[in-house]
Amino acid sequence: MIPIDIINEFYNPGSKAHTILIKHGQLVAARAVDIACKIPEHKPDLKFIEEAAILHDIGIFKTNSPTIGCTGDQPYIVHGVLGREILDSKGMEGHGLVCERHVGVGVTIEDIKTQNLPLPERDMLPVSIEEQIICYADKFFSKDSKMGEERSVDEVVAKLQKYGQEKVNKFMLWAKMFSEV
Ligand SMILES: [Fe+2]
Repeated sequence: MIPIDIINEFYNPGSKAHTILIKHGQLVAARAVDIACKIPEHKPDLKFIEEAAILHDIGIFKTNSPTIGCTGDQPYIVHGVLGREILDSKGMEGHGLVCERHVGVGVTIEDIKTQNLPLPERDMLPVSIEEQIICYADKFFSKDSKMGEERSVDEVVAKLQKYGQEKVNKFMLWAKMFSEV
């Protein structure tokens, strides 16, 4: 399985969305593989991390996000669930879970209910070490004009703060687990 081949089934090579998806995916994949190499005791699957990191945002084209070239009709927050549906249809359930569980630092059923989020009511939290690493690595890279610039841990924390201290605490637990602070 070659991740780019799957992406090319849904995105036109050369389009804005394709360019952003591939670049962002590659940045997250490189960061995630670096982290994985620092924690051999957890036995992370490097091949899976590379593939799933490239594919984690494959659902964005179905969302209404014109600034990143995506002209679908779904709210952006649904892109993880949409990505899971796409990869499930390819028989890639493990990669699909990475899509669904990477949004923010994970979305709880309480988040969905209390904030009335347009998501199925289930916990969408990174569980496996690979899911946790990719979710963490993703927070360092935007998909906007600053796409190539890696955020610092402090910058990520500042962004997460508006979603609550619990989210910041979860991110900082990972930062410690991955020996980044
Ligand atoms: Fe991402």
